[in-house]
Amino acid sequence: MPDYLTLAIVAAREAGALLREGFGQATRVEHKGAIDLVTDYDRQAEALILARLRAAFPEHAINAEESGRTAGSAREWLVDPLDGTTNFAHGFPQFAVSLALTEHGRLTVGVVYDPLRDELFAARSGQGATLNGAAIRVSAVRSLDQALLTTGFPYDIRTNPRNNLAEFTRFQLRCQAVRRPGAAALDCAWVAAGRADGYWELRVSPWDVAAGALIAREAGGRVTSPAGGDDFLGQDAIVVSNGLIHAEMLAVLRDE
Ligand code: IPD
Ligand code: CA
Ligand code: CA
Repeated sequence: MPDYLTLAIVAAREAGALLREGFGQATRVEHKGAIDLVTDYDRQAEALILARLRAAFPEHAINAEESGRTAGSAREWLVDPLDGTTNFAHGFPQFAVSLALTEHGRLTVGVVYDPLRDELFAARSGQGATLNGAAIRVSAVRSLDQALLTTGFPYDIRTNPRNNLAEFTRFQLRCQAVRRPGAAALDCAWVAAGRADGYWELRVSPWDVAAGALIAREAGGRVTSPAGGDDFLGQDAIVVSNGLIHAEMLAVLRDE
């Protein structure tokens, strides 16, 4: 079987090196929406990743944030070349490259690379999750009351009422603290590494969370839709946790 994970790691590291060089430089920023930004680095990093994937696996489908989706294969790569663009554009050091592979709709490979910390999170389905090659494991925090959570907000927060503000308020009153770091892929990977106990977000895209979700699951965590189903990839909302606080998180989302 071709080594999909190794190729994904090479591509993520190359794209990450490009982002690291560009971080803090004056960069051209365009608006995709009122507060939704894109930089030259999003596009350059994506072009680099797509060139790598196409050269190695020309028959695979690709769903990439900046250039869209090509269909026609049971194997599809989900590509976020720069997760955390707002942070990157402001010089706020929290962003990553995210690459995942689905085979017949199942997540089989996930890589999240944080170039500033040189931290490479990776997983293959059924084989555990690693950070720079060492096995990682979710936290052992047992109750929401003691939990540190992360979340994020959609770009149309000003106009769409399903904007996560009500959920944010509820969680903030029930857990130890909620952070909003600004890169969904790292939010998931940090649950996997036990740095946070849970993460939820409404209206994310598959390329934001696919890799991180596999990494969290392989690190012993639980990943579902807010309704509790395993079909989170086909949905636009996700709950990632250490497993122990998952039921409590779902209850808060149901407003119970
Ligand atoms: C965004 C980040 C952010 C999350 C948004 C995403 P982008 O991705 O992951 O943390 O709250 O929902 O769209 O635009 O920086 O790739
Ligand atoms: Ca993203
Ligand atoms: Ca992005």
